[in-house]
Amino acid sequence: MRKLSDLPNLDGKRVVIRCDLNVPLDGTRITDDGRIVASVPTIKYLVDQGAKVVVISHLGRPEGAPEAKYSLEPAAKRLGELLGQPVFFASDTVGSEARGAVRALARGGVVVLENLRFNPGETSKDAAEREAFAAKLAEFGDFFISDGFGVVHRKQASVYELAKALPSAVGLLIEKELDVLTRLTSTPERPYAVVLGGSKVSDKLGVIDHLLPTVNKLLVGGGMVFTFLAAQGHKVGSSLLEVDQIDTCKEYLKRAAELGIEVILPTDIVVASKFGADAEVAITDADAIESSPFGEKGLGLDIGPESAARFAAEIASSKTVFWNGPMGVFEIDKFANGTRAVAKALTEVQGLSVVGGGDSAAAVRILGFADDQFGHISTGGGASLEFLEGKKLPGIEVLND
Ligand code: 3PG
Repeated sequence: MRKLSDLPNLDGKRVVIRCDLNVPLDGTRITDDGRIVASVPTIKYLVDQGAKVVVISHLGRPEGAPEAKYSLEPAAKRLGELLGQPVFFASDTVGSEARGAVRALARGGVVVLENLRFNPGETSKDAAEREAFAAKLAEFGDFFISDGFGVVHRKQASVYELAKALPSAVGLLIEKELDVLTRLTSTPERPYAVVLGGSKVSDKLGVIDHLLPTVNKLLVGGGMVFTFLAAQGHKVGSSLLEVDQIDTCKEYLKRAAELGIEVILPTDIVVASKFGADAEVAITDADAIESSPFGEKGLGLDIGPESAARFAAEIASSKTVFWNGPMGVFEIDKFANGTRAVAKALTEVQGLSVVGGGDSAAAVRILGFADDQFGHISTGGGASLEFLEGKKLPGIEVLND
């Protein structure tokens, strides 16, 4: 894979860099700037080389046309603050403003173009349409750097076709992500624990399937745990349940037992009368959720205190830990304890601790942890999971070609 250091002198050259500046926004306020911060080292490297830097990214999932709420303008402003230099924002992607801005770039200058997904060619299913859009983007650069790790699992114009249209190299962020994630899949130091949460079992099937033979312990929390509890024959009240995945969970529990892998499920649950900050709550045993005062209406919204302590102890005593998905509805304080306990335990790991996934990354920052308390916080949600599932990622494959 060609790296930044393999490229010729970039002084005065135009470099298009694909970043993943897809950050969560509350209006125009960025609630977690982690992905922008993670994009800075490569951009700074290019600036220091005297390149003319054209930053491209998506934000959200607009459907091929401009939508103000998905504008990259707030991200461009934040990038300027982090770089400590003016960053020009072009209000179109390949239109006259973008063309003018790229032409006007000075050595070491940076422009951010408007959301790639405002253009139908970016995400088109038709390869010819993607190629045509990539060709327009390619006009802006002498070189292409791929550094949007969060999007490498997407076969989209700016990720795949553009890498073929220009001499390309991988950026520092993708290099670092691949390095850490490869350590998880090849030779993890043991004990190796994987902690999975989040709402859906179906999102995690591939990763459970692939990692089961590799890990020593699999800890499960979050909304997905109720499908596992149902697979053990327990009633889960009105908690999230994927009925069509119950058999798959049964199969995983059986396979884990055969392989001698410990699957650790919560033994107690925080059950709520309803979804919301003003809900009444009760703690029940995980196998008796309907015994709460809310009966069949009870909603499990976090792992209980006994489980949080057990999970924390299992995590802190492991040498390698990968965590994806919150343990509960961490955005509401009374359901954040499980996620907080898991995050804190990851900071205590004497070895490699990796936080993967948009929600878990946002959770640790919202709960007040600092990035440097963890071995690595991945910028890829779907991308890191697909990597750990052993899938081929188009945005990486194309750079290997
Ligand atoms: C992410 O948030 O995981 C990446 O930015 C990719 O976004 P997407 O799932 O909308 O392609």
